[in-house]
Amino acid sequence: MNELESLVDSARRAFGQAATPADLENAKAQFLGRSGRITEWMKGLSALGVDERKVQGAAINLAKQSIEQALQQRRQALADADLQAQLQAEALDVTLPGRRRGAGGLHPVSLTQERIEGIFGSMGFDVADGPEIETDWFNFTALNTPQDHPARSMHDTFYVEGGSAQAPNLLRTHTSPMQIRHAVQHVKHWRAVAGAPDPADALFGGPMPEIRVIAPGRTYRVDSDATHSPMFHQCEGLWIGRSISFKDLKFVFTDFCRTFFESDDLVLRFRPSFFPFTEPSAEIDIQFSSGPLAGRWLEVAGSGQVHPQVVRNMGLDPEQFIGFAFGMGLDRLTMLRYGVSDLRLFFDGDLRFLSQFE
Ligand code: DAH
Repeated sequence: MNELESLVDSARRAFGQAATPADLENAKAQFLGRSGRITEWMKGLSALGVDERKVQGAAINLAKQSIEQALQQRRQALADADLQAQLQAEALDVTLPGRRRGAGGLHPVSLTQERIEGIFGSMGFDVADGPEIETDWFNFTALNTPQDHPARSMHDTFYVEGGSAQAPNLLRTHTSPMQIRHAVQHVKHWRAVAGAPDPADALFGGPMPEIRVIAPGRTYRVDSDATHSPMFHQCEGLWIGRSISFKDLKFVFTDFCRTFFESDDLVLRFRPSFFPFTEPSAEIDIQFSSGPLAGRWLEVAGSGQVHPQVVRNMGLDPEQFIGFAFGMGLDRLTMLRYGVSDLRLFFDGDLRFLSQFE
């Protein structure tokens, strides 16, 4: 083997040992680069005579071509190997079962809210939504709450910017302001329709349709422990008509609780209480006959017959209109239904907890 042949041979070996395209380019420089071995051979030509130069030049060219060919082959081989590896890595096993997309699910408190809307909806209640930033009027004054009532203190209520010193804005402390908001809208609408000059509207000009509404939503109080969160959920209920009494409250709420908890032998107790916006007022306790909570009285709602002053603030004559209201805690109902002992779990956003309700 002459020197040029062994040069080609060592180039082949060097290329064969290059494991990556970068290695290969480095190896190439040793042979074909500006100060590579072939270039050196070329430079040597000038020292030769014409005839010798021809022969030697042709031999060098041949060696150069062989080296370039070897380089090209190795480049191709590395590219092929790379492609193979990529195909291997991306191989599809079509026999594997499909992967489902995580469908997500409703939060347990949302599930409770939907459930409540369904049950009251079936009893003819509308569902109303209202602002979480309230005025002092709707949250307290219109609900017959005296100026010096402790609930109005900074200890209990989050006051926010806006409003005036006499009528500050606040984060609603309960859903009860929705009683007033909804009733006022309802009454306004009815007056507008009943007072319309078009005789066709006389159809609507009869007695005002009853107000029958629930209003679920977020509420806020300065309070935080295992059973209280500064943000929590309530659902208000209101039924105003010409002869809606405490008896109707008892029937409606008992029916609701038995349906909600899917327990026909659930019993209710209406315990006398006080709220400024109802007279008489009662706290509603429930008792399960079986399960881990059996035999215990559990408070679920405040309620009562709507106070005449509140009926007046709705724009109605309390001599003609009467009804009941209640307010219940959605978080508490959810805890009872699913046996959750710490309220904070609802607001931590831990998927291990939340995905159990999907
Ligand atoms: N708003 C009361 C509270 O947050 C609950 C309540 C009591 C609502 C009596 C009512 C009611 O509608 O009639 O504690």
